[in-house]
Amino acid sequence: MSLVLVTGGAGFIGSHTVDRLVEQGFEVRILDNLQKPVHMKGQPTYLNRKAEFVYGDVRDRELLLKTLQGVEYIFHFAAYQDYLPDFSTFFSVNAVGTALIYELTVEHHLPVKKIVVASSQFVQGEGLYTKRNGGLVAPTMRGLADLNAGRWDWFDEYHNPLEWMWTPETHANPPNSYAISKYTQELQALRLGKRYDIPTVVLRYSIVQGARQSLYNAYSGACRIFSLNYLLNKTPTIYEDGKQSRDFVNIHDVVDANLLVLRSPEANYEVFNVGGGKAYTILEFDRIVATEFDRQESSPNIPGEFRLGDTRNACSDISKLKLLGWSPKRTAKDSVTEYKLYLIEQTDIGDVLSFAEKKMKDLDVVRRVVR
Ligand SMILES: NC(=O)c1ccc[n+]([C@@H]2O[C@H](COP(=O)([O-])OP(=O)(O)OC[C@H]3O[C@@H](n4cnc5c(N)ncnc54)[C@H](O)[C@@H]3O)[C@@H](O)[C@H]2O)c1
Repeated sequence: MSLVLVTGGAGFIGSHTVDRLVEQGFEVRILDNLQKPVHMKGQPTYLNRKAEFVYGDVRDRELLLKTLQGVEYIFHFAAYQDYLPDFSTFFSVNAVGTALIYELTVEHHLPVKKIVVASSQFVQGEGLYTKRNGGLVAPTMRGLADLNAGRWDWFDEYHNPLEWMWTPETHANPPNSYAISKYTQELQALRLGKRYDIPTVVLRYSIVQGARQSLYNAYSGACRIFSLNYLLNKTPTIYEDGKQSRDFVNIHDVVDANLLVLRSPEANYEVFNVGGGKAYTILEFDRIVATEFDRQESSPNIPGEFRLGDTRNACSDISKLKLLGWSPKRTAKDSVTEYKLYLIEQTDIGDVLSFAEKKMKDLDVVRRVVR
């Protein structure tokens, strides 16, 4: 039986991947430091009992070396993801953690057969847009003056609106410390992998949805926030005008992709987008959640707030991974249904929403249009 190390294996994507690996007969070791606020109540009850759990930080050299013993495959999910302005932590956890895995593998001649590294759609930033005349544009970041004035969309030099495109893996334009640290992970993994003959695959996930998304993580997306609001008889706040587009991918489709690239030599040294293949505006997604919670009559608040650092549109072109035989099989509605079932089993949701909202406000991440 091959031993697989899953860093961040107590988290959302990690734990589902662990379950599938165990199901498929792999021996699994988890390395996770149960980071707060992701794990507010310690070790989650959903952890697979057939997997070995090692408590600790991926940056702990001695512990990581011990944890790597006997390992043939690695899924590297452990990451710092937040809206906090502690910019250096993103690099310390995400970039240093990744470098250390390669460093120890090379230094100790560890017989690692493949490393799959979790990256993010955020690496593409705003992605690519087209002009009316068909020309391609790669916008950078929206300025604070535009956001303060409620100018959300991108325009060309003649003030014609730009149209967003399904963006391929060749494009990278990371807008914030999290995204830059994920891009750094990608570059290190691919370059070090190739240089030292350690087969490596990078997966750029779009917004992943399903059960076990942390309830407390202020960073986690619309599915958790909208669901909590509708469940608690509140109405969610939608940022900007709600017309921004996103693609959402179900956790089981993500696990399918993870296992596929683990087994496919053709995937080695490549980056793949793992997305849902269908774009939704946030307003459309809100209606899916409202319907699932039987709250169709309530409309969301759209007070003109925005989050600093958000991209206007983000939709990933998944044709490259489709060539390997993968395609998303579940819809956003399937994900919301799964998340709802998970949510209603939780016993501590009453204070969760205000915890996340207060945190965002305290951090001054959420701003309001200045009229
Ligand atoms: N969920 C998404 O929508 C999404 C989208 C794009 C990319 N990703 C990437 O996928 C990976 C997994 O994300 P997730 O949604 O499962 O997040 P998660 O927060 O649920 O899981 C991450 C896990 O890593 C652990 N961890 C954090 N810092 C650690 C450290 N220093 N040492 C050891 N363990 C540590 C946490 O305790 C947690 O269990 C991350 O790399 C993330 O950047 C996720």
